[in-house]
Amino acid sequence: MTELRRNALDAALEQPTPALGTLPRGEPVQVFAVPQGTPARPRIDRAEGIYMWDISGRRYIDAGSGPVACNIGYGNRRVLDALQRQAEAAAFANPSTFESAANRLFAERLTEAAGPGYERVFVVSGGSEANEAALKLARQMAVARGDTSRWKVISRQPSYHGGTLGALSVTGDLSAHDMFGPMMQVMPKVPAPITYRIPDGFDQESWAEHCAEVLDRTIVDEGPGGVLAFIQEPVGGLATGALVPHAAYMRRVREICDRHGVILIHDEVMSGGGRTGAFLSHEHWPDCRPDLVVMAKGVGAGYFPLGLVLAPRDRVAEIAESGGFMHGHTAHGNPLACAVGLAVLEETLERGLIANAAAQGARLRARLDALVELSPIVGDVRGKGLLMALELVKDKARKTPFASSAMAAGTLAKVAMEQGLILYQRRTNAGRDGDWVMISPPLIATEAEIDLIADGIETAVRETARRLGVA
Ligand SMILES: Cc1ncc(COP(=O)(O)O)c(C=O)c1O
Repeated sequence: MTELRRNALDAALEQPTPALGTLPRGEPVQVFAVPQGTPARPRIDRAEGIYMWDISGRRYIDAGSGPVACNIGYGNRRVLDALQRQAEAAAFANPSTFESAANRLFAERLTEAAGPGYERVFVVSGGSEANEAALKLARQMAVARGDTSRWKVISRQPSYHGGTLGALSVTGDLSAHDMFGPMMQVMPKVPAPITYRIPDGFDQESWAEHCAEVLDRTIVDEGPGGVLAFIQEPVGGLATGALVPHAAYMRRVREICDRHGVILIHDEVMSGGGRTGAFLSHEHWPDCRPDLVVMAKGVGAGYFPLGLVLAPRDRVAEIAESGGFMHGHTAHGNPLACAVGLAVLEETLERGLIANAAAQGARLRARLDALVELSPIVGDVRGKGLLMALELVKDKARKTPFASSAMAAGTLAKVAMEQGLILYQRRTNAGRDGDWVMISPPLIATEAEIDLIADGIETAVRETARRLGVA
């Protein structure tokens, strides 16, 4: 037994952890995901900074920030105090009855950080929910101006925008569409401007140009006036392994959307809030400012479910004047979520965590780039700031991915976990596009911690190559 302070619930749960699916009732959520008899995950005891401990006392470094969410690390005193203060004052207030100071202040500070063009914020409980809200807001923005024929939302293949049916309809994941396609209105897709394993006959720039041209053509082919919006992850997440599009692509996307009267939505659920070394990605691409920005994950930083949509003041006013936004959830504008969002934002800005993400991202990137040279299985490293991915290949010269059955990225994540290093990995498109793991530590990581993470990744990659049978 660990000598560390034990979670009160764990103390109440005395029995040893049984394999999953073996008890007649109860069991944690993992029981929905894995075959019966799969060993249970280690049970969390506590977490602080970039570290987590299970109930046996074993320490892990969280080099993924959970699912790229826990931006300011664990156990942050300011956020915990804000959460407790708000919970004691009023844990809930129905937005149709009351406004809350937490909502008002959070909206004020967040829109200030987002800059001109993003003066209003609709607060919900997560990334999928926020994308749903953005799609409906875009539709009402068009309808409020009499553009009632527009409803199609184009997105990229591959991409990820969430698990709910609306967000899934714009997600570029063929295996999810095989399963759920009949239950939703699948939206048109255009190719993602990938930068590695580019189709024959193209280089990075010409492929980016080609992808922009396909977007242009698709808008026309779908029927002029029919396309409402284009949604993209400015810096990619798991679907593309932290894809950073060519600058020419971003410029053209904005120009194409403007020319066709199409609303541009940036899904910054993973990239927003400082992780890429900028609060929002349009700081990296100033000539590609979106009309709507969707955020989640890092804005609540794992302390409370929080997602949001940033929108321009005049467009929101038009909707409000024409009957109001036809959307809401029990928890929209929730005071606890807003109190947490405000404290996370203050912590991010006051501690200079955005600059730290840029600086530590560069430090870690140098070590990962060296791995591309050294390791026979590391084909590419991509990303910005502390949103990076490392792609594994079987044959570096040909950039050939491992067979899907080899579970290359899963093996790397497993090996890393055995050494106490947590890497975020999940398969989009059933591994069809390749294998990568996210390298995305909390923005609070110090130089020494970044070096520790880099050392751990090097060791794990070496062992993974051995297990995958690559010399
Ligand atoms: C880019 C992007 N959009 C949307 C989502 C969905 O967010 P959530 O899981 O909070 O619903 C995710 C989650 O991984 C994401 O990475």
